[in-house]
Amino acid sequence: MNERDPKNSSRRDLLRFASLASLGMGLADAAPQADRTDAHSVSGMKFEKRDTVRLGVIGVGERGDSLIDEFSAMPEVQVTALCDTVKEKVDRAQAKLERAGKKPPALYHSSDLAFEELVKRDDIDLVVIATPWIWHVRMAVAGMKQGKHVAVEVPAARTIEECWELVNTSESTRRHCIQMENCCYGYNELMVLNMVRGGLFGEVTHGACAYNHDLRSILFSNEGEGLWRRFEHFNRNGNLYPTHGLGPVAHYMDINRGDRFEYLVSMSSPVASLPAYRKEHVAAGDPRQKETYRCGDLNISLIHTAKGKVITLEHNVSTPQPYDRINLIAGTKGIFRDYPPRIYVDGAPKEEFGPIDHYKEKFEHRYWKETGELARKLGGHGGMDFVMAYRLVQCIRNGTAPDIDVYDAAAWSAPGPLSEASVAKGSAPMQFPDFTRGKWRQATPVMADSAV
Ligand SMILES: NC(=O)c1ccc[n+]([C@@H]2O[C@H](COP(=O)([O-])OP(=O)(O)OC[C@H]3O[C@@H](n4cnc5c(N)ncnc54)[C@H](O)[C@@H]3O)[C@@H](O)[C@H]2O)c1
Repeated sequence: MNERDPKNSSRRDLLRFASLASLGMGLADAAPQADRTDAHSVSGMKFEKRDTVRLGVIGVGERGDSLIDEFSAMPEVQVTALCDTVKEKVDRAQAKLERAGKKPPALYHSSDLAFEELVKRDDIDLVVIATPWIWHVRMAVAGMKQGKHVAVEVPAARTIEECWELVNTSESTRRHCIQMENCCYGYNELMVLNMVRGGLFGEVTHGACAYNHDLRSILFSNEGEGLWRRFEHFNRNGNLYPTHGLGPVAHYMDINRGDRFEYLVSMSSPVASLPAYRKEHVAAGDPRQKETYRCGDLNISLIHTAKGKVITLEHNVSTPQPYDRINLIAGTKGIFRDYPPRIYVDGAPKEEFGPIDHYKEKFEHRYWKETGELARKLGGHGGMDFVMAYRLVQCIRNGTAPDIDVYDAAAWSAPGPLSEASVAKGSAPMQFPDFTRGKWRQATPVMADSAV
C-alpha cells in the first residue's frame, strides 16, 4: 500500500475522524477557565500595519484551495507556507501558486501535527485554517501561541470549552482569532446592513436565518467532506453549522457591540433523510449502512438577546430542498428577507414584498463598490469570498481592527453546543456565556458605511 496515495490517506483520515467524532471528542486540551480575572479584551485591537501580508495555510482541501485563489489574487499577499496531511494537495496548491507567478511556499505534510512546525515560522503574519472542525481550535491556539494572528473556517469551535479556549488564548497572546464568515460579506448582506444602520427598518426587533443546504451527496462522498463531515451526525443532535446564517444577523443586531446573545431554546425533528438517502444511493453491503445518525433533519432554535430581540435559527443539511439562509431582518418600519431577496417598507402602496433593485444606488456597500468587479470575476460564492479576503487584508495593511473578532467567533459558534444541550433537555433554555465579559456594552458597531 502506498502511504502517499491520496486514496489511502483519505481512508486513514476516514478512520481517524470516525473514531474521534464518534467519541464526541474535540482535540483541544482540558477546558480552560471562563472566569479569569487577568483577562484583557482584544475587542477593537488593531493589527500591526504590514505592506505585504504573509499567509500560512493549513488545510488545502476544497475550501483551503479556493481561499488560496481569493487571497493570492491580491499582489500584496504572499503565501509562504502550506500544510495538509495529503502531500498531493500541498504539491498541487504550490504548483498553482507558481503558475500564478508567486514564490513557491514551503510545504508541510509529514503528519497530523505538521502544522505545529508551520506556525513556528517567522515569515507568517496570518495563519488561515481550513481543516475539519475537530482541528480548528487546536490549530488556532497553536498559531496564536506562536505569535500569529489566525483566521479560522466555520464554525470556529464545537464546544463551549473550545469557545473559551479561543477567547482566553486570543486575550493572553494579544493575537486575533478571526471567524472567516464569508456570508457577512455577501452583496445583499452588506447592503442590508447599511439599510439597518440607515434606519430603513426602524427599531429592529427580530431576525431569522438558516443554513438549509442539501448536502446529502457530499456527506456520502468518498472524498472531501464525505471523509469527515457525516461523522458529526453520529453523536450530535443540534445545529452543527450555525454561523453562515447567524453572522450577518448578528451584525444587523450589533451583537457583541451594543447587544449580546442571552439564551437559546432548541428543537430537532426526527432523523429520516440521511438513512433514506443511504438506502437508495449506497450499496447494501457498504459499512456506512451500519452507521447511526442522531442529528435531526431540521434543528430549529430561538435566540433571545439581552435587549429582548428574537432570532430564529435553522439547520438542515439532509432533506431535499433549495439552498436557503433566510436572512430576514425586521423592525418597526419594515422587513427584508432573502431567497429570493425582497423588501417591504411601511407605507408602501401595496401590502406586498417588492424587489430591492431601486435601493441599490443608496445602500450598496462600499466594499462591493471597491472590489465588486474582481470579486464577481473570481466568483467564490458569488464574490463574497473575495470581499472577505480583501477586507481582512485591507485591515492588516491599514493597521485597523478586524471586522470579526474572537468574541464573534465564540458567540456565533456557541449555538452548536447550546442547541445540542437544549435538545437533550427537552428544549430547556441554555444561557450563552458572555464571552466579552461585559465589554459588549461599550464596543461600537462595525462594517456599515458611515455615509448612509
Ligand atoms: N465558508 C465557507 O463557505 C465554507 C465552504 C466549505 C467549507 N468550509 C469549511 O472549511 C473547512 C474545510 O472544509 P473543506 O470543504 O475544505 O473540507 P476538505 O475535506 O475538502 O478539506 C479539509 C482538508 O484538511 C486536511 N486535513 C485534515 N486534517 C489535517 C491536519 N491535521 N493537518 C493538516 N491538514 C489536515 C485534509 O487532508 C483536507 O485536505 C471546514 O471547516 C468547513 O466547514 C467553509
